[in-house]
Amino acid sequence: MSSIDSVLKETRLFPPSDDFRTKANVSGMEGYHTLCEKANSDYQGFWGDLGRELVSWRKPFTKVLDESNAPFFKWFEDGEMNVSYNCLDRHLESKANKVAIIFEADDGSVSRVTYRELYHRVCQFANGLKSLGVVKGDRVVIYMPHTVEAIIAMQACARIGAIHSVVFGGFSAGALRDRIQDAAAKIVITANESVRGGKATPLKAMTDEALGIGNCESVEKVIVFQRTGTKPDHWSESNNVWWHQLVKGLPDVCEPEWMNAEDPLFVLYTSGSTGKPKGIQHSSAGYFLGTQVSMKWVFDYKEDDVYWCTADVGWITGHSYIAYGPLGIGATQVVFEGVPTYPDAGRFWAMIEKHQVTTFYTAPTAIRSLIKLGGELPKQYDLSSLRLLGTVGEPINPDAWMWYHEVIGGGRCPIVDTWWQTETGSNMVAPLPGAVATKPGSCTLPLPGIMTAIVDESGAPVEPGKGGSLVITRPFPSLVRTIYNDAARFKSTYFPEEFNGKFYLAGDSAHYDEHGYIWIMGRIDDVLNVSGHRLGTMEIESALAANPLVAEAAVVGKPHDIKGESVVAFVVLKGDRPEGEAGKAVAKQLREWVAHEIGKIAQPDEIRFGDNLPKTRSGKIMRRLLRNIAKGEEITQDISTLENPAILEQLRHSAL
Ligand code: WT7
Repeated sequence: MSSIDSVLKETRLFPPSDDFRTKANVSGMEGYHTLCEKANSDYQGFWGDLGRELVSWRKPFTKVLDESNAPFFKWFEDGEMNVSYNCLDRHLESKANKVAIIFEADDGSVSRVTYRELYHRVCQFANGLKSLGVVKGDRVVIYMPHTVEAIIAMQACARIGAIHSVVFGGFSAGALRDRIQDAAAKIVITANESVRGGKATPLKAMTDEALGIGNCESVEKVIVFQRTGTKPDHWSESNNVWWHQLVKGLPDVCEPEWMNAEDPLFVLYTSGSTGKPKGIQHSSAGYFLGTQVSMKWVFDYKEDDVYWCTADVGWITGHSYIAYGPLGIGATQVVFEGVPTYPDAGRFWAMIEKHQVTTFYTAPTAIRSLIKLGGELPKQYDLSSLRLLGTVGEPINPDAWMWYHEVIGGGRCPIVDTWWQTETGSNMVAPLPGAVATKPGSCTLPLPGIMTAIVDESGAPVEPGKGGSLVITRPFPSLVRTIYNDAARFKSTYFPEEFNGKFYLAGDSAHYDEHGYIWIMGRIDDVLNVSGHRLGTMEIESALAANPLVAEAAVVGKPHDIKGESVVAFVVLKGDRPEGEAGKAVAKQLREWVAHEIGKIAQPDEIRFGDNLPKTRSGKIMRRLLRNIAKGEEITQDISTLENPAILEQLRHSAL
């Protein structure tokens, strides 16, 4: 049975318990429908009310939505606010001594930061940035380990109106350089090393390498947070400054820069269907509002929650549901530097017990790997503090969902399967846990105010059970505003002419079931989802093609039990096609090359060599056939348009 058939047959329904429903921020389906009806009948009134309720304004807005220059929408455009003020200052009166962050380092040591302390540390670092001449609108690249300081760096940028661009610490020097260049960053903030799973990565040395590769003249200073005792090999007195020396003696208060609602808060690069990552640019107020609405409705935030999102700040999940969402709403959250499998596969469960976590948000790939490495381990821990579970990043298979529900949630915790994207900024489709009954594998229904549709090529809605393209038919506050430096690409990628520029095209295929629940089936573009990480096939192909040995490469995805998808690369070398041990040696070299060009997360799991690739007579690589070969499937489709059908036979036997 294919996975599509199996999810279509999924009939188990899990309504919230009476207890959960009664206490929930949105209670019962009446609660959900009331909100949806308000959004349907008065869209601007709905968002305007939320904007006033959940965001603190310096200057209140008078206009809610401006669609006159679609798809460049503006929300709350004459309002003024500051996101860092909303995350820190506004809590000082009532909860200055509340713990904002429980930080657990890789080695298990724990420290706590209150809202007051966080406020002062952010202010002081903001003053540090100012002392280096950083002003509103400047770009600051953050290439840091997942520590409290990474959050402080982001908040400090927000405080002074600098646009941060966080680059995941697992990306290589090459990927870092590309992002620094595109953003024309003035400052890079890094650490001497990051530590994950007991292993150190020399982030400072990688930053030096990125800057050394060239064309990063915009960078004036590199700020280095001292995470470990190791001294960087190279230090430039003129261009490098230690974080602790920068802030020494600086005042620990800093008036926030009052920002227009539409001023950019950050740019975060993500993969698309071309070789060049896209700088997703988010606004200040609209983005922030999206995080607050979802903290309240989807995560059902309560004052005494201990909330834990296991993502890294290098991804959008870490932006919205670590750096901004929980702080904005005044939550106590766990921030974890390490990996789920170190020192063993019980780490998450031990931490839930230790910190009495109530709300736990992680990725299906982590759940699957922890089932495999120790499905019985959770039983050794007391997980009774949990009341709500969440997943994000990829579809969750019903088996993993049931395990999560029973073994982790003790059958009592609703699971919010949250569908969204870097571009949407906050949750779009997810069950409101005190209202919507969940089904294993479905992200269920859109949030009130989010107008989704599943449409065919002509833009017409599809019937239940039929696959189509997931679109959002109305602009919403946390939607991406543009692609940094590339407004034309923004328009053609997300508001394509095929739908008259009217719909936001998510790039996912999906279908409805008979209850109107949404099931995400996967990407419709050349984007892979490997362990919840988004990778462009073209990006990996261009990295491979840049290797002097390689003539041509094509990359496809293949289903994988734990990662969701794995990366398979078909490579044509400039020289002879290598076989056996020689082939394995070249494959190893190319894997290392990709790790160096992009990062380990993009390394092909499998490399196959051919004399050529299957192409149409017009020279287009037929990736569909490569996908069949990668999966070991029979090729049943018409191959008469193929220039060189014999190559299929060779590639079929090309596994090393
Ligand atoms: C793509 C977006 C959203 C933060 C993490 C990833 C896939 C995401 C789900 C889900 C099925 C999901 C989609 C989407 N995806 N969440 N709950 N169920 N698929 O952000 O890197 O921008 O990737 O991740 O394919 O388009 P991202």
